[in-house]
Amino acid sequence: MRVAFVGKGGSGKTTLSALFARYTASHGGPVVAVDADINQHLGMALGMADGALPRPMGSHLAEIKEYLRGDNPRISSASAMVKTTPPGRGSRLLRLDEPGDPIHTGFATVTPEGPRLMVTGPFSEDDLGVACYHSKVGAVELYLNHLVDGAGEYVVVDMTAGADSFASGLFTRFDLTFLVAEPTRQGVSVYRQYRDYAADYDVPIVVVGNKVHGPDDVAFLREHVGDDLLVCLEHSAAIRAMEQGRPFTLQDLEPANSAALGRLLTHLDAQEKDWSRFGRQAIRFHLRNAEAWANRATGEDLAAQIDPDFVFGPTRVSLSR
Ligand SMILES: Nc1ncnc2c1ncn2[C@@H]1O[C@H](COP(=O)(O)OP(=O)(O)OP(=O)(O)O)[C@@H](O)[C@H]1O
Ligand SMILES: [Mg+2]
Repeated sequence: MRVAFVGKGGSGKTTLSALFARYTASHGGPVVAVDADINQHLGMALGMADGALPRPMGSHLAEIKEYLRGDNPRISSASAMVKTTPPGRGSRLLRLDEPGDPIHTGFATVTPEGPRLMVTGPFSEDDLGVACYHSKVGAVELYLNHLVDGAGEYVVVDMTAGADSFASGLFTRFDLTFLVAEPTRQGVSVYRQYRDYAADYDVPIVVVGNKVHGPDDVAFLREHVGDDLLVCLEHSAAIRAMEQGRPFTLQDLEPANSAALGRLLTHLDAQEKDWSRFGRQAIRFHLRNAEAWANRATGEDLAAQIDPDFVFGPTRVSLSR
């Protein structure tokens, strides 16, 4: 199951992605946390030292593409593979229960409380004028498109702030999207924007209230987002202490905030996986991307990369064994 944390800048996406990843890892299943934000802070929020961060996926796109395309005859070379190129027969698929593939071993590091961490990498001076951040985030889109995940396995993605996440098809690659909202007018305005956009794509989204100080804050959120409000996390002294650099584990979190994380996990687990929507939208965004720029950039008709007989989801994996 894949989940994205989105919301206004500073609302708590990184903090909640990290807490949710830790909580979920402590309740069983494999968890991969992915930092897909231009400001890379998820590693720190997962308790990693700066020097211990994994290799950035965004700087090794060619290597990732070369592996994922496998011997798919529809993809002529790694350079003809763009961020939306969907898997087809011959492509290499990734699994969380067998993370021994070169993508997981090469780009993921285990963090102190169990989740693996993958990162797109920061936007560096060298990138100015030659790459845009969206191309780095494309590594995450490729990863998710080639991942066959099941119940009890989790990918948690910390996304860029605001509506930037709509710049690509990435926002459609999730089983559930948690929109983090502070109880403020700006917090809920990002929610409205996201909700309207997501509705056109049948993307399930719920609101997680954050830094809530009391019943008035909860009432404010309820008034503005209605039944989309799933749960609220309180303003947390433990999180503040963690930000100040004090040692922190999940045990330090207030019981009400732990319970809220539990509610997020229960809701995610109850979500139906919809592989057919996933496959349909992969193709829709690939065709759109091909027409918008990718055909021109690669000099190929990238619509031909779509394999009409490829079935998204676990069927393909069991057939290939
Ligand atoms: N429940 C909470 N209680 C107390 N502080 C919190 C809580 N949630 C987040 N914070 C604090 O709010 C600040 C912003 O949080 P965070 O960095 O997670 O937001 P973000 O949405 O990822 O921001 P950005 O858009 O910059 O990536 C941090 O200092 C964090 O410690
Ligand atoms: Mg952040």
